[in-house]
Amino acid sequence: MVIEKSKFDIVAPFYDIMMKLLFMPSGGESKFRKKISQLARIRSNHKILDVGCGTGTLTISASAYLEKGISIGLDLSHRMLTVAKSKSKNPRIHFILGNSSKMPFRSGSFDRVFLTFVLHELSPVVRQQTLREVRRVLKPDGLLIAVDYHVPKGKLKRVVFRALMMLEEDEAWNFVARGLAKELKSAGFQINRTEFTIKDLVSVVIANPVCR
Ligand SMILES: C[S@@+](CC[C@H](N)C(=O)[O-])C[C@H]1O[C@@H](n2cnc3c(N)ncnc32)[C@H](O)[C@@H]1O
Repeated sequence: MVIEKSKFDIVAPFYDIMMKLLFMPSGGESKFRKKISQLARIRSNHKILDVGCGTGTLTISASAYLEKGISIGLDLSHRMLTVAKSKSKNPRIHFILGNSSKMPFRSGSFDRVFLTFVLHELSPVVRQQTLREVRRVLKPDGLLIAVDYHVPKGKLKRVVFRALMMLEEDEAWNFVARGLAKELKSAGFQINRTEFTIKDLVSVVIANPVCR
């Protein structure tokens, strides 16, 4: 497995504080992560995968619902995972180094898969490879919970959105031009529900794999 050095290896020590500051004007990061976990309707025996888990905040938050199940966070950045591992000693949580475009899991293994703020980081090709991998590892009745940037309506919100996007690279501009729903449909997902949050700058899409 080839794991390239990622820009997140550099960002890792500051990532959690950056997220806390970014979410502060809209109620705080904990509230946001809790909302995402609730929307996933996790059951106590579920197997959860958090793809591109970063420092594992959602992987850990989602595990609060588990009594028998497990929560796995996978990420390309060794350093993000080091931070993630330092945040929890829960034996139901595991963090794994890996690439989302070729994941080390059997087909049909997971009840829930999270992709939060990951797709906009990926090139168009790796984005589709990742979504097809997610589809492969999800159980036929499993759910994908995808969370990412959304172009809001309204002048003021768009100014804020553009300011946020200034921090991002070409992949993110390509992603927002295409839109989350279109990306998911291209990879064989059916959209169940869409919610907008963080002043409509972020969309949360719940989708299930279309039967083959
Ligand atoms: C913006 S962070 C989001 C982290 C986390 N999901 C969150 O909500 O805070 C994007 C994460 O995706 C990871 N990532 C990027 N490309 C990846 C890939 N091909 N496979 C696995 N992880 C990847 C990065 O290392 C980084 O930790």
